[in-house]
Amino acid sequence: MDSSGIKHMEKIYDEAAAFVHLMARETGNPAHVDVRLSVIRQELAATGTYTHTANELAFGAKVAWRNSNRCIGRLFWKSLDVFDHRDLTEPDDIFTALQSYLRHATNGGKIRSSICVFKPKHPESYDEIRILNNKLIRYAGYETDAGIIGDPEEVTVTRLCTELGWKGEGTAFDVLPVVIKVPNREPELFSIDKNDVLEVKITHPELPWFSELGLRWYAVPVISNMVLEIGGISYPAAPFNGWFMGTEIGSRNLGDENRYNMLPEIARRMNLDTKSKTSLWKDRALVELNTAVLHSYREAGVTIVDHHTASHQFMRFVEQERKAGRDVTSEWSWIVPPMSASATEVFHRDWPNKIKTPNYFYREE
Ligand code: ARG
Repeated sequence: MDSSGIKHMEKIYDEAAAFVHLMARETGNPAHVDVRLSVIRQELAATGTYTHTANELAFGAKVAWRNSNRCIGRLFWKSLDVFDHRDLTEPDDIFTALQSYLRHATNGGKIRSSICVFKPKHPESYDEIRILNNKLIRYAGYETDAGIIGDPEEVTVTRLCTELGWKGEGTAFDVLPVVIKVPNREPELFSIDKNDVLEVKITHPELPWFSELGLRWYAVPVISNMVLEIGGISYPAAPFNGWFMGTEIGSRNLGDENRYNMLPEIARRMNLDTKSKTSLWKDRALVELNTAVLHSYREAGVTIVDHHTASHQFMRFVEQERKAGRDVTSEWSWIVPPMSASATEVFHRDWPNKIKTPNYFYREE
């Protein structure tokens, strides 16, 4: 091996050692550390990588959640359900695993935070298993002469699916197929069965016209474009989910001007003065849209959390971490909810945005 290869290997070993020590410290069994690290050293020398035990993978995925500075929902990091599918190589089998993962996570609406982990990337290879969607479930965004129909954030993925031969129905809420890419193969398309995509129609507890807007959203947010990193090993395909905080849908997905942009229409129906910024028509429409989202998910029996409760849960997480003797890290602009910021507890606090591993990272394009 050349000297850069050895340096590379040393780096993986150092990260492995840090992780193995962390796990031993937190879960007990420090006696195993030396044995485990000598096995890792041998495997690294022989193969250029090493293999996590099932326990290491599960612990690493959970701690990666705990270390996710942008996530307000980290109180529940220990309850992550981890599915280990590192043995799969065929796109068909990967999709089958994704389907059963999604059914487990959805659980008829009582959402379970889960992750589905596929084969890690070999440190010396460029090819890897990847899910090309940013989210496992998302609605298509079609570019038409009359503007974008559907989710503008998904125009690129929609174009990719179309190039691969997919044809959507052209509605504003067409669920995109999943695109799976494995080494030495073209990307392949798979459609999720309608029965596996739980959705909620948006209605309002007091405003009967709200249902006429024809809004809906899916139940389970699954991030599929982040790389799970544990002890120097990268898992490029490791989709994971929690449940929604209402504002993700009510303020951002349906409210943002460059997303579904529903505030003008809602304000019009509320007879608000949309000519004057000072009428606070956007703010008032936002409150009703968010009220509708929380109401609809509750009625449908689908897990959702409002931003006040989520903020309070985050403060409990902070306290829990303090008691465990760990420093909390966070990214303020992501933790503070995109609505009524100063009325939530997290607005008035801040923590350093220091990056720890294990963690979930965006890949460099
Ligand atoms: N905000 C993203 C979306 O609406 C989902 C991010 C993850 N959210 C979560 N509650 N785990 O698609």
